[in-house]
Amino acid sequence: MKGDRLPSARALAEFRDIFCDAHTEFALDRCPEHELARVLDGQASAELRRLVSLTDRRKLGAFFTPHELADRLAEPLRGARGKIVVVDTSCGAGDLLLAAARALAPAIQRATATVHLYGVDIVPEFVEVAAWRLELQRRVLNLDLEVRTRCGEGRSAPEAASATHVLLNPPFASVQSADDCAWAGGTVNGAADFLDHTVARLAPASRLSALLPDVLRSGARYRQWRRVMGESLDIEETTILGQFDQWADVDVFLLGAVRRAQPSAGGAPESWVQEASGPTVGSRFHVSVGPVVHFRAPDSGPRRPYLTAKDFPTWGTIRTVARDRRFIGRLHRGPFVVIPRTSRPEEPARARGAIVADHRQVAVDNHLLVLSPLDGGIDECHRLLAVLRSEAANAWLNRAIRCRHLTVGAIASLPWIDAGGSRHAG
Ligand SMILES: C[S@@+](CC[C@H](N)C(=O)[O-])C[C@H]1O[C@@H](n2cnc3c(N)ncnc32)[C@H](O)[C@@H]1O
Repeated sequence: MKGDRLPSARALAEFRDIFCDAHTEFALDRCPEHELARVLDGQASAELRRLVSLTDRRKLGAFFTPHELADRLAEPLRGARGKIVVVDTSCGAGDLLLAAARALAPAIQRATATVHLYGVDIVPEFVEVAAWRLELQRRVLNLDLEVRTRCGEGRSAPEAASATHVLLNPPFASVQSADDCAWAGGTVNGAADFLDHTVARLAPASRLSALLPDVLRSGARYRQWRRVMGESLDIEETTILGQFDQWADVDVFLLGAVRRAQPSAGGAPESWVQEASGPTVGSRFHVSVGPVVHFRAPDSGPRRPYLTAKDFPTWGTIRTVARDRRFIGRLHRGPFVVIPRTSRPEEPARARGAIVADHRQVAVDNHLLVLSPLDGGIDECHRLLAVLRSEAANAWLNRAIRCRHLTVGAIASLPWIDAGGSRHAG
């Protein structure tokens, strides 16, 4: 690793010691469950944020994937059978490989899969922490699997060639493109460069799940990159996810693809969901996830009208929210539109909306997306329902998001399709 990319060596050593000192005298049966859960979940990311400045994390491209997002990337592993080799060539503290172990646990326990997890990272301290966390996960779930981690340059890692599945959240920091780069010159997003190198090594039929900066999916500057990637990859999914997490202000998308046996000329550019050139739902509505996590939010504070996804009146209007609960936190005053986050590709409408015309301050459950009009009140809400009901919106969402959860990013990016005479009925 080049010296100018190295965050303070002391900070990295401290990061490693937090995890690795603990395991010299570690006994699984004496470790409280909540402590185990912390080590295997958000602690690595939280400690990294505490010890290494944002500037240094950016230089290195070190942002560890949150649990829920890591599970999304690992979804294609569920139900996998036979010999499975999962590789992450920029593994950090191992969060994607931990998600792979969770996804594959039932198959390992039923002995329908033999599993190898290989991780590579350029920072030795991260590699040590990844190795320990994976060992811990192996013991907690009692899994018979092979884990190998090592320090090294991920772009040229030979492990990629042995992978049946590659899980990747590469560094996004800018890099200089190679002299013979087929898709750009000068400085480019490091994720584009990392993926290019990795894809070149993949064996035919190996499956890639990558978390990438949205600019690679939508930016004009990366059109050539998309074409080149599409020559080698059969693109199955480009799901818009929105902001990576609350600390990293970068929009990301999930790329799901399979390595082609033979390169395909042309690269199928239409398989990437494109940015709308005109207005979008996000340019007319503020889109957010309802803030109430019912079983976690304390039952304290004033009683508030409480809106949940139960008895959802698709395309209807809720004039008075009937339930209530105590809640301290973000509230929404009608009129606004809600959409259930759960949505299957086979359903007739991917985004089923309803208008909330209750003018009190309402607490909204987190199974619902909340869309508040920036301007125009209830008429604007009716126009939005007309957009959501249109065939064109459905087709766009089916391409943008194939999994079962609508995201803030996907709904905000939905083109504002004029549904041929908006409905303004009160
Ligand atoms: C965005 S983080 C993701 C880490 C992990 N895969 C995850 O999802 O939590 C990117 C990682 O790439 C590592 N990295 C940066 N440049 C690298 C390189 N040239 N080769 C291998 N790893 C690299 C960083 O140290 C960092 O851990």
